[in-house]
Amino acid sequence: MKEDILFENIELGNGLNLENRIVMPPMSRSKASDDLIPTDAMADYYARRAETGLIIVEGTIVSPMAQGYPNSPGLYNEEQIEGWKKVTDKVHQNGGKIFAQLWHCGRVSHPFYLEGKLPLAPSAVPLQGKVPRGKDLEYGMPSEMSEEVIFSVIGEFKQAAANARKAGFDGVEIHGANGYLIDQFLHWETNQRTDAWGGTPEKMSQFLFKIIEAVKQEVEYVGVRLSPVGYLHLEENEEDKVISDYYLKQLNQYELTYVHNGSIDDKPYQYIDGSVTQYIRSLYQGIVIASGGYSAESAREMLSRGDADLVAIGRPLIANPDYIERVKTQQEIKPYSNEMLAELV
Ligand SMILES: Cc1cc2nc3c(=O)[nH]c(=O)nc-3n(C[C@H](O)[C@H](O)[C@H](O)COP(=O)(O)O)c2cc1C
Repeated sequence: MKEDILFENIELGNGLNLENRIVMPPMSRSKASDDLIPTDAMADYYARRAETGLIIVEGTIVSPMAQGYPNSPGLYNEEQIEGWKKVTDKVHQNGGKIFAQLWHCGRVSHPFYLEGKLPLAPSAVPLQGKVPRGKDLEYGMPSEMSEEVIFSVIGEFKQAAANARKAGFDGVEIHGANGYLIDQFLHWETNQRTDAWGGTPEKMSQFLFKIIEAVKQEVEYVGVRLSPVGYLHLEENEEDKVISDYYLKQLNQYELTYVHNGSIDDKPYQYIDGSVTQYIRSLYQGIVIASGGYSAESAREMLSRGDADLVAIGRPLIANPDYIERVKTQQEIKPYSNEMLAELV
């Protein structure tokens, strides 16, 4: 019988072997302690899913100024490193592989989370709308980052990567998707700078590239999540594609472990033919993780077409901790619903 493509193993870079092609993508659960320390319940939650080829944990903030949501875990102090150690130990005991997702929300935040300080952004351009998850707050004007602040945030990503290594993670994913700080540098609307960090696709991409270089000094396996032509927390602008055309090609030079699509593949996007994963694949030659709306069946088809090397299965993995077993033994997959976010099961 022909082997199921989902359960073929794969080697990423030198020596990082994954048991199968299914990745648990980062999904923020807002369940860290009030000091933003990972809990024992989080360790159990991730350990239950250790059969997925790779777990990428939820967005993990690189500094107090990176926060934009309640109870997001951090990776910038010893207590947080200790908390994550418990998580990585349990996942490893169960035979899994686990990456940290390094996150800075930039302007997608509020002084409420920042001890009264204004959120950071490439330019002083506010996001419109309400801050989600409970509080009756509106997003507001961010503060434009000085060069000094830009370099200090790059340093925070580097330090968080070093902390991830100490905490026992197998690698890290840099969160460059979905309109958060790195992505804010990659769009004309949010990056109106005229210095070395804005004005052309080359300059707008520098923040991403400098973070990759800094993080690679600390950790061997480094992936990047990006959402080119996706518009979460951003205004649509067809001119942005020249920027993603540029950075996706340039990423070939960085010996990354993978590029992970942060957009939803099962809906059509303007400005490109086909899915966002196919667009990434057309410009980036390394390992690609597809994401957004996949079932086991559609993932098999996509992998067989060669659109990507790995597939993220997100919400179904929240609904089914034993997703891998269920797919292997052709059991029913429980449907996901937002109510499932209330508890870590
Ligand atoms: C509750 C929830 C939280 C999420 N948090 C993050 C996050 O912290 N970082 C990130 O890159 N994507 C985040 N995502 C997006 C998922 O990683 C994934 O791309 C999305 O759920 C689509 O995949 P799916 O259709 O397989 O669920 C989140 C999604 C959900 C449902």
